[in-house]
Amino acid sequence: MKVEKPFLTDVEALRTRARDSIQKGAITPDYQGDVKQTIEILQAVLATEIVCVLRYTMNAVAATGISSDSVKKEFDDHAKEEQAHMRAVAERINQIGGVPNFNPQGLASRAASQYVEGENLIEMIKENLVAERIACEHYRELIRYFADKDPTTRVMMESILTNEEEHANDMHDLLVAHEGKPMLSKSSA
Ligand SMILES: [Fe+2]
Ligand SMILES: [Fe+2]
Repeated sequence: MKVEKPFLTDVEALRTRARDSIQKGAITPDYQGDVKQTIEILQAVLATEIVCVLRYTMNAVAATGISSDSVKKEFDDHAKEEQAHMRAVAERINQIGGVPNFNPQGLASRAASQYVEGENLIEMIKENLVAERIACEHYRELIRYFADKDPTTRVMMESILTNEEEHANDMHDLLVAHEGKPMLSKSSA
């Protein structure tokens, strides 16, 4: 009885191809993404994550007011997680042959989210919620773009998105806790 081949690619051909173009590292001939475009997209994600690290760190230091300690801790936790996202994205850029752009010059214009400090605790929480919502929508779009063309980048972005949705939810809950309602019509200092 003929045994069905479990894989489509002949193993000898696979071995030969792996040996060819070893200078391309993890990028094998079946990579269906556009390497140049993927690097460009990830540079923008990297900038977004750096801006998030900066904003949450600034907020964790500057937050004052009643019950600011628990909020500070939340900002601090988020800053750490944003830093992990930043690192993962930078590693992926390197893996596919790019040089992660950490240049502070032009950082804000490369990022999708904005750096808005917020004048008081409530404004800080609101600005973080806005930034998280921008990241969520932006990353969801990228996940759809990467699809099966680059599953590794897609899976990384999916895991970051999961975390950003938690962040958005945390910020929303803080707003509710501090104001008793999800959104303020106008905040007072
Ligand atoms: Fe992030
Ligand atoms: Fe986040």
